[in-house]
Amino acid sequence: MAKTFTGSSPIVIGHRGASGYRPEHTLAAYELAIALGADYIEPDLVSTKDGILIARHENEISETTDVASHAEFTNRRTNKIIDGESKIGWFTEDFTLAEIKTLKAKERIPQLRPQNTIYDGKFTIPTLQEIIDLAQMKSAEIGRIIGIYPETKCPTYFKSIGLSLEEPLLATLAANGYQGANAPIFIQSFEVSNLQYLSTKTDLTLVQLLNASGKPYDFFISGDERTYTDLITASGLEEIAKYAQAVGIHKNLLLPKDSTNKLLSPTSLVTDAHAVGLLVHVWTFRNEDFFLPLDFQSNPQGEYELFLNLNIDGVFSDYPDTILAVRDRLIREGIN
Ligand code: G3P
Ligand code: CA
Repeated sequence: MAKTFTGSSPIVIGHRGASGYRPEHTLAAYELAIALGADYIEPDLVSTKDGILIARHENEISETTDVASHAEFTNRRTNKIIDGESKIGWFTEDFTLAEIKTLKAKERIPQLRPQNTIYDGKFTIPTLQEIIDLAQMKSAEIGRIIGIYPETKCPTYFKSIGLSLEEPLLATLAANGYQGANAPIFIQSFEVSNLQYLSTKTDLTLVQLLNASGKPYDFFISGDERTYTDLITASGLEEIAKYAQAVGIHKNLLLPKDSTNKLLSPTSLVTDAHAVGLLVHVWTFRNEDFFLPLDFQSNPQGEYELFLNLNIDGVFSDYPDTILAVRDRLIREGIN
């Protein structure tokens, strides 16, 4: 029998909304995730020029908005180094919220999700406040608490340009009644120092994101030589447990794959994390074969079932309905 850390069923997080069905990070994507039954909705957060938090995966927005077709913004196209990588395009920190609101979202991966392109140009870019409003309104309407799962994107970079994410995030959450360890929220980051800072300012639940390669960007800046691989060791997890309550892990960290895209045996990461009191949430599950291991081509349900049987505490999915059907069946069968 699968056993989560708390004994409750694993949570389902609508990754960037129900982004398999609607352009990501739009109110339409979040609303659909809720309608499909997601427990939490996930906005990645970046800042506007006037310090408003908005939902985008990157601060460079040409891949997911129609900014390139706005003649009035042609001269905002520029080249920046973000987290050590050269990027050319349009950046949220160069736009006021009022300007951002003139843009429309578009499908990020039209080659894999051509059916979603019918929504291109229909939805605006939501603020964190609008996402909270939606979650709280829907919670009251359907009688089920919809949590939010915000991620600070590029926190070191935003701090370096005078637009720290942490203060507006905490202020917005406080103003909307999110308080204490049981509030329906998880705050996540791939960086470490901003989570450590947040842990001194809030009791809200914090999640250390762990990638399958590389290292937290703030470690490059501070000269810390540790990588994500070091953070998943017993001592790395113990360190994380001092400031966070959960880890959000790349799925390959739990089930690695070989060079032919076939799954290998599970690692001990869930057991190790639970041993120091950390919940384990796994990302990112998507239905398309492009994202599925060889073992589960055309069978995303099989991949979910395998992971859910490894005692994980939550799943980030672009298709919340697919995971929920599997989770509910396992619950009926007494497995989750
Ligand atoms: O935050 C969990 C997962 O979303 C991390 O990946 O790149 O989609 O933000 P990303
Ligand atoms: Ca994310």
